[in-house]
Amino acid sequence: MIELADVTKIFGPGPADALAMVRVGRGKDEILEQTGNVVALRGVSLTAEAGKVFVVMGLSGCGKSTLLRLVNRLIEPTSGTVRVGGIDMASLSRDELQEFRRRRAGMVFQRFGLFPHRTVLENVAYGLEIQEVAPAARDATGREWTRTVGLEGYETAYPSELSGGMQQRVGLARALAIDPEILLMDEPFSALDPLIRREMQDQLLKLQAGLGKTILFVTHDLAEAAILGDRIAVVRDGAVEQIGKPEDILRAPATEHVAAFVASVRAIPS
Ligand SMILES: Nc1ncnc2c1ncn2[C@@H]1O[C@H](COP(=O)(O)OP(=O)(O)OP(=O)(O)O)[C@@H](O)[C@H]1O
Ligand SMILES: [Mg+2]
Repeated sequence: MIELADVTKIFGPGPADALAMVRVGRGKDEILEQTGNVVALRGVSLTAEAGKVFVVMGLSGCGKSTLLRLVNRLIEPTSGTVRVGGIDMASLSRDELQEFRRRRAGMVFQRFGLFPHRTVLENVAYGLEIQEVAPAARDATGREWTRTVGLEGYETAYPSELSGGMQQRVGLARALAIDPEILLMDEPFSALDPLIRREMQDQLLKLQAGLGKTILFVTHDLAEAAILGDRIAVVRDGAVEQIGKPEDILRAPATEHVAAFVASVRAIPS
């Protein structure tokens, strides 16, 4: 389970001043103008349940990547608490945090983030190499995951020889190869063509049906959020506007902003 409790994240030279303004309800633009600080997230509370897909959805700049990075403490909250499996991430020592990132949290990036000079198999097995798993064992696990994502036969290919969809399959296999408890996915399919994107969504759902990972998935696309999410949080300007099951959000959008997203999904003939 991933829990955020009243998390605010401010970037800039004087977070304390900006935080005081957030607490009295001042807006993002006003705070930026007066203090030079960016309020990336404000008072975000959410719970991503174990074994489920929780989707964070919102426009560019609304704070989605910031939210994701707080979970494996690539960035620290200005205020509030982030817990994974009941443990306050702020309480982890450097070694514990490294251990957490190596074994317990897999990450998949929007632009694939593969190592260009490593083969498919070497990319997939990278996390195991870092864990100092013996070569034969990591080779076996790497091959297994390469096959699972449908890339059997491409083990010795390099990322530049693969299509975008294939590269993202490598990214997914690399994240899953360490058998993490949680999977953090930052717009993993956004750079793909619509048809390939649908295939990847289907593949993720199929995998998830067998794996039951705790997945935090970021997207700017409500249609994608509705396909993948057990629950969705719609974020605007760093604040959560609505959290619910896809059908709840589609049926009863809580704000005009959410309603506009819902209308744009409905406009797409299915
Ligand atoms: N390291 C940083 N320093 C300063 N400001 C930052 C930093 N990281 C993010 N921001 C700002 O915080 C806000 C949220 O950024 P974030 O990257 O989380 O948005 P996003 O929803 O992921 O956007 P996108 O869909 O474009 O990836 C933006 O206004 C951004 O400019
Ligand atoms: Mg982002």
